[in-house]
Amino acid sequence: MQHRAEEPPQGAIAPAQAPPPCRTAEGAAALRVWHTIADDAPAIFDDRAVRALLGPGTRGLLDLLPGSAWGLRALEGMQPELAALRGQAVVRARFAEDALDRAVADGCRQLLILGAGLDTTGLRRPDLLRAATLTEVDRPSMQAWKRDHLPPAVTEGTRFVPVDFQSERLDERLSAAGVSCGSPLFATWLGCTYYLSPPAIQASLAALGRVAAPGSELVLDYWLPTERLPWHSQVLLQGVGLTLASQQDPLIGLLEPDTLARYATEAGWRVAEERTAAQLHAYWLASRRDSLSIPAFSRCARLVRET
Ligand SMILES: C[S@@+](CC[C@H](N)C(=O)[O-])C[C@H]1O[C@@H](n2cnc3c(N)ncnc32)[C@H](O)[C@@H]1O
Repeated sequence: MQHRAEEPPQGAIAPAQAPPPCRTAEGAAALRVWHTIADDAPAIFDDRAVRALLGPGTRGLLDLLPGSAWGLRALEGMQPELAALRGQAVVRARFAEDALDRAVADGCRQLLILGAGLDTTGLRRPDLLRAATLTEVDRPSMQAWKRDHLPPAVTEGTRFVPVDFQSERLDERLSAAGVSCGSPLFATWLGCTYYLSPPAIQASLAALGRVAAPGSELVLDYWLPTERLPWHSQVLLQGVGLTLASQQDPLIGLLEPDTLARYATEAGWRVAEERTAAQLHAYWLASRRDSLSIPAFSRCARLVRET
């Protein structure tokens, strides 16, 4: 079961009057809300809290969903790839949050959300804000927008560290913000690697490795290059890639598993868990009666910092 905090989210948020500056962040958040409307209960990941952070246009589209739910479901039943982006968005979020809960239960007190976008950990989980320090890392524009829209109880309990993974030193920024290599940290890096160049992914893993004490964990998702994918996943990935490129976020960091493992090892990380799309589907989706699926190009991994 997804952890449910005993308390409600931290204060009501006024619905945003304009969309966030990062369209991919809004898209990922919209997929999580869509899941709570269109798919069967229980939700794999319940992020209704993020709805107020979506722009008015996206909220309006989600309002139309209940009326067209049966049609969408029929369409997705015939073509499961249509529900695949939604499936990977909620499964990766759940994979990460389950690992986060285990880490906190084991005593981890430093939580990092890399490429945070509209991640709502601080909003949904006041228990975590009390138990640990929460640090979000993202581009400055996205962070400024988010700080303006979250309730004070969340912004005051969160460290916002602006970093461009493409060009800036993550370790220097994290150390300056107070992230300590004196005790293990737990970090998530979801929905982000594929927008970065392979050298930037490699450099970020190395930089995080420099501030992460032995035993620290990093949960991330990554997407495979098209070559070895079944044709329907190639078509989906090419379509997604074209859409994202037109939104100024091209997919420049598709990775082979061997490449990720090499970058990780060079940076002092061990790939402790690696989940293919088929494994994620078998674990999270196989027993569901809705049409959620996971694209063959999507993988999740959990890395552990070695001594
Ligand atoms: C698709 S969103 C994912 C957000 C969130 N992790 C989630 O799963 O919903 C990608 C996030 O990565 C951030 N991002 C992309 N490129 C980045 C870069 N070069 N430096 C820092 N953040 C970046 C974006 O600003 C955005 O918030």
